[in-house]
Amino acid sequence: MTLLTNKVIFLTGGASGIGEACAEAYAKAGARVFVMDKDEASLNQLCNRLGNTHGGFVGGVQHEADVKAAIELTIAQFGKIDVIHNNAGIASPSKSLDQTSENEWDSLFSINLKSVYWTTRYGIEALKATKGSILNTSSMVGTMGQENHAAYVATKGGMSALTKAMALDYAPFGIRVNAICPAGVWTPMLREWATQQPNPVAIENYLDNIHALGYCPDGDVIADVAVFLVSEAARFITGCIMPVSGGAELGYKK
Ligand SMILES: NC(=O)c1ccc[n+]([C@@H]2O[C@H](COP(=O)([O-])OP(=O)(O)OC[C@H]3O[C@@H](n4cnc5c(N)ncnc54)[C@H](O)[C@@H]3O)[C@@H](O)[C@H]2O)c1
Repeated sequence: MTLLTNKVIFLTGGASGIGEACAEAYAKAGARVFVMDKDEASLNQLCNRLGNTHGGFVGGVQHEADVKAAIELTIAQFGKIDVIHNNAGIASPSKSLDQTSENEWDSLFSINLKSVYWTTRYGIEALKATKGSILNTSSMVGTMGQENHAAYVATKGGMSALTKAMALDYAPFGIRVNAICPAGVWTPMLREWATQQPNPVAIENYLDNIHALGYCPDGDVIADVAVFLVSEAARFITGCIMPVSGGAELGYKK
């Protein structure tokens, strides 16, 4: 027996970055993983690596019909869902609020936050049946703030608040709801952001230094905690907004 033996995990945005690390860690811990992602090529590569006891669906988490179809397919394929991990997200654009267009605002909110509404609408009955859990990939910026990312920060603040509300609403059904909050993690998303900064070389040092532990990690540090949070080892943890941030939020530093 491993930590996630017999668990079925529905994971969004699992074809790259943090989600990819989580998909691999979940599979290694014994779960069957169903990944929904918009990037068909990367999703196919991941599914080939994981093997045919897992599953995938190409679609956008902002689209009701895609989420409904993906969740229905998961249940058809595996018979149940124990965990919904809402991880898909975008960070662009890097702008203050007044510079953000209405389309950019709507896109960030529909992908990062409204997606949780769709996965919950279509997945909650399955989670009630398994007394399962929900894990949301939020961010430290949702509580700390960040320059030039107003709409993104708002989606993550919303996600952390929503996690607590959902934890209370679904606790009577035995469903736990938690959030995991990275600071920086080297993923394609962060690399894209780094290349857009005025001095991409200096940004690597900056990203190491914002973490008290002195380095910007890869997705495995998030995945290890995600495995714990969705496992029975965390059976009495709900409504937790868990920093996995190397101490980035600890305050003044030299
Ligand atoms: N990388 C960081 O430093 C960092 C820090 C804090 C929080 N996060 C959060 O972690 C999550 C994953 O980020 P990442 O850095 O791994 O990004 P990433 O861009 O490397 O991976 C995101 C994945 O989500 C998928 N995706 C994006 N939009 C989608 C959509 N509309 N529908 C379905 N799939 C979609 C992408 O195709 C990709 O596979 C995001 O929610 C992000 O906000 C990342």
